[in-house]
Amino acid sequence: SSSDDEGEEYLFKIVIIGDSAVGKSNLLSRYARNEFNMHSKATIGVEFQTQTLEIDGKEVKAQIWDTAGQERFRAVTSAYYRGSFGALVVYDITRRSTFDSISRWLHELKSTSLFLIPSFCALNRNLTRSSAYFKIPNVRSDALHPAHSDTAVAKMLVGNKLDLDSIRDVSVEEGKSLAESEGLFFMETSALDSTNVKKAFDLVIREIY
Ligand code: GTP
Ligand code: MG
Repeated sequence: SSSDDEGEEYLFKIVIIGDSAVGKSNLLSRYARNEFNMHSKATIGVEFQTQTLEIDGKEVKAQIWDTAGQERFRAVTSAYYRGSFGALVVYDITRRSTFDSISRWLHELKSTSLFLIPSFCALNRNLTRSSAYFKIPNVRSDALHPAHSDTAVAKMLVGNKLDLDSIRDVSVEEGKSLAESEGLFFMETSALDSTNVKKAFDLVIREIY
């Protein structure tokens, strides 16, 4: 409906990764639709949502990929990391094992580079690594291009379920210090009561932009 030279659009791909049941799907549904599901089912494979934001008067589309945390889907989901410009790496503050998995998730994010993304990775050929965005004058959902970037540029460590602070198993300091040593942003969130959810996503999106 829009002509080729009618304004500019920006498309960012963001992935959410982390162990099963840490709350990835609920963080996304809270952010995108302000919904929370106490009995959500485990994600199978990968699902995504597109969120449109306006930054500096420009339309910015964040395509947020929610991946399955279960081990049996690992081969499938890692194929989708490629071309992502942002990542939320999530653990559950009440389950230490999910925090211990973070380094493995980060490693997977770094080492996944041999796959093509099936779609939605339209990007301008002039893309430079430093500009760090997809500039697409004309979004085509069926566009199929190999991604130029294999690793996310804006990464945030997210300790979710902050509403369960009273039974926490991982301290704020531990989260902070891991984030610092890995060069990640850090935030504790609650998809249940909404604490910091919008902040976390918006920070990653703005950082990319
Ligand atoms: P996979 O899809 O298997 O990788 O899991 P997931 O990380 O997407 O977890 P999901 O969002 O499905 O949430 C798992 C369970 O944790 C559900 O019962 C949610 O209701 C619950 N949950 C998610 N976020 C929060 C939160 O912030 N606080 C509390 N108390 N529970 C949460
Ligand atoms: Mg899920």
